Amino acid sequence: MAEIKTLAVVGSGQMGSGIAQLGAMYGLDVWLVDTDSDALLRATNSISSSIQRFVSKSHLSQAAGSDALRRIKCTANLEDLHSADVIIEAIVESENVKKKLFSELDKIAKASAILASNTSSISITRLASATSRPRQVIGMHFMNPPPIMKLVEIVRGADTSEETFSATKALAERFGKIVICSQDYSGFIVNRILMPMINEAFFTLYTGVATKEDIDTGMKLGTNHPMGPLELADFIGLDVCLSIMRVLHVGLGDNKYAPCPLLVQYVDAGRLGRKRGIGVYDYR
Ligand code: CAA
Repeated sequence: MAEIKTLAVVGSGQMGSGIAQLGAMYGLDVWLVDTDSDALLRATNSISSSIQRFVSKSHLSQAAGSDALRRIKCTANLEDLHSADVIIEAIVESENVKKKLFSELDKIAKASAILASNTSSISITRLASATSRPRQVIGMHFMNPPPIMKLVEIVRGADTSEETFSATKALAERFGKIVICSQDYSGFIVNRILMPMINEAFFTLYTGVATKEDIDTGMKLGTNHPMGPLELADFIGLDVCLSIMRVLHVGLGDNKYAPCPLLVQYVDAGRLGRKRGIGVYDYR
């Protein structure tokens, strides 16, 4: 595959903006796409402050930080992505919405372009089926926050080619990440294990076993996790956690993956976590 020079990221939320930042910090020209101009503005601010944190810790020079910011171009227009070598989708976790996007990207992207998804649990094989290039469709799952977390989980769809896999792995490694490789089953590796733990923390709270603080302290100090599971759920987004649990429940067909009613209720109430100022905890 030809050298990767231009990266496009569709979706400018926490994950999309973090992935765009990585691309720019590691020398790629980056398109960041979102139809919501406010979201693009928030993304630009968060990229800028994250880069500033790297500069203030001397992990990046001021000049390299400014260059990275200059390499990111924002757009609302998918047509701008015709020159991208790799397009990473990081939009809402809905299979239908993602499939529609993949079908549009397939028409716009150049023939050699790789179409990757940052999905946390949805089938890559099914997303690939919305395109005419299933050999060039792959899962490239970053962890939150992408500029900091060391891991990228790569997921091969049923038809993903070896060339697409190698190019995607090389790109993740260029970003300084360690790669793990998963087959295309619901939740892949990380979320298949992480989300049932978070769901169980909700059950522990729901059934009155302990307070939220004690559940989180138990897992932080008892198992050396940087965040407790409820705090982490707020960080990820309770809506994202719920949608992943539903994918596990349907895809793996076992009741042990049924979402906790308390998680469902919080999402119904709009308590989506840090991004909304309230989730399990109140950040307002
Ligand atoms: N940009 C730049 N630097 C950042 C940053 C950002 N967005 N976030 C944190 N940092 C840096 C800080 O500057 C600090 O740097 P130094 O060590 O050089 O001082 C370092 O990272 C630690 O940050 P903080 O001191 O602010 O806070 P912390 O120690 O609590 O770390 C954290 C923050 C890295 C997020 C840590 O709490 C953590 O690892 N939490 C768990 C995160 C996790 O599990 N993520 C995966 C979620 S699952 C997922 O993403 C998959 C999915 O599909 C849902």
